[in-house]
Amino acid sequence: MALTQTTQLVDGFDRGISYLRLSVTDRCDFRCQYCMAETMQFLPRSEVLTIEELLRTARLFTELGVRKIRVTGGEPLIRRGIDELFDGLGAFPNLETLALTTNGSHLAESAQRLRESGVNSINISLDSLEPERFKAITRIGELETVLRGIDQAIDCGFERIRLNAVVLDGLNRDEVIPLTQYALDKNIHIAFIEEMPLGQVNIGGKALAYVSSDTLQDELSEHFSLIPMTARDTAGPSRDYLIAGSQTQVGFISPHSQNFCAQCNRLRISAEGRLLMCLGNEESIDLRTLLRSGRSDDEIKTTIIDSLVIKPERHVFDRPDEPQIVRFMNATGG
Ligand code: GTP
Ligand code: 5AD
Ligand code: SF4
Repeated sequence: MALTQTTQLVDGFDRGISYLRLSVTDRCDFRCQYCMAETMQFLPRSEVLTIEELLRTARLFTELGVRKIRVTGGEPLIRRGIDELFDGLGAFPNLETLALTTNGSHLAESAQRLRESGVNSINISLDSLEPERFKAITRIGELETVLRGIDQAIDCGFERIRLNAVVLDGLNRDEVIPLTQYALDKNIHIAFIEEMPLGQVNIGGKALAYVSSDTLQDELSEHFSLIPMTARDTAGPSRDYLIAGSQTQVGFISPHSQNFCAQCNRLRISAEGRLLMCLGNEESIDLRTLLRSGRSDDEIKTTIIDSLVIKPERHVFDRPDEPQIVRFMNATGG
């Protein structure tokens, strides 16, 4: 479905914003090595947007022209009140796509409800099909529970299900073919993600090296026939290929080696209510204070529109000499 292009949200580089990523919690029941430190200090509850504030924020953005919302975390499905949030979001008349990114740990019991709320699209993190390795990467997760969640989501008939695998040499590089074969067997999509340097994560002293999407694509092309697809209408970071003779798409998300920022159509809200202009930069405004200050809807909308001049042109993940972002991924929602 093409996203409607009429939006009052236009940044300084003439990019129209139609997509909002809403992080509903910084907490997670996993501790993936590339995402979090083993011991994390999470936000006090009073600093996290309430369900009412999240719904108000989402409504204001849809009134301004946002047509797609992806709920992210941390792990969204452990957030108290999440059912109420999805019911509310699913009822917004202007929303064309309601999406979720999850680690899958609570999907088996949640999938049906999510579908009934109006969620169309789910991305599920899956970095390994080997139980012990899965546990080592996530530090906590049970592979079997996540696989049951994936099966349940498939049974519920979401329009789009995609697996997300962050690939690192020394961690799961050797599973790129089995993971793709798994997606193919399940008739769902998969994306391989280059690791982004966010926060100070402890990789347990192991030498883990980033693997470029091009290397993976070459490797996959030896096993599968990959047909390039035209850029998706979400203008997302994923470069997608169709596996010939199937409906499975393989995507490559390459913050180091490819830059998709010129087509960026997204904004993100962090769990603490910062409106972040870019995943790879710190520019933001404090939406939470505005929401809690008694300002009217129109006043907040005007502030949001005006704030877009600070949206940067591009991220700098591919420039190692530039200062790195010190936020952890779980607060931003990816
Ligand atoms: P779509 O909504 O289908 O475009 O999904 P997505 O790939 O954007 O969402 P998902 O939450 O599954 O994120 C997959 C990976 O893409 C994560 O590693 C995110 O951090 C990364 N990602 C999402 N948006 C951006 C972005 O604007 N810039 C960069 N560099 N990475 C992003
Ligand atoms: N680099 C790239 N992707 C990451 N994710 C979490 N941390 C990182 C990182 N440092 C991914 C997860 C999840 C998505 C929301 O972000 O695998 O699928
Ligand atoms: Fe949790 Fe996702 Fe981060 Fe893993 S990558 S610790 S599942 S938020």
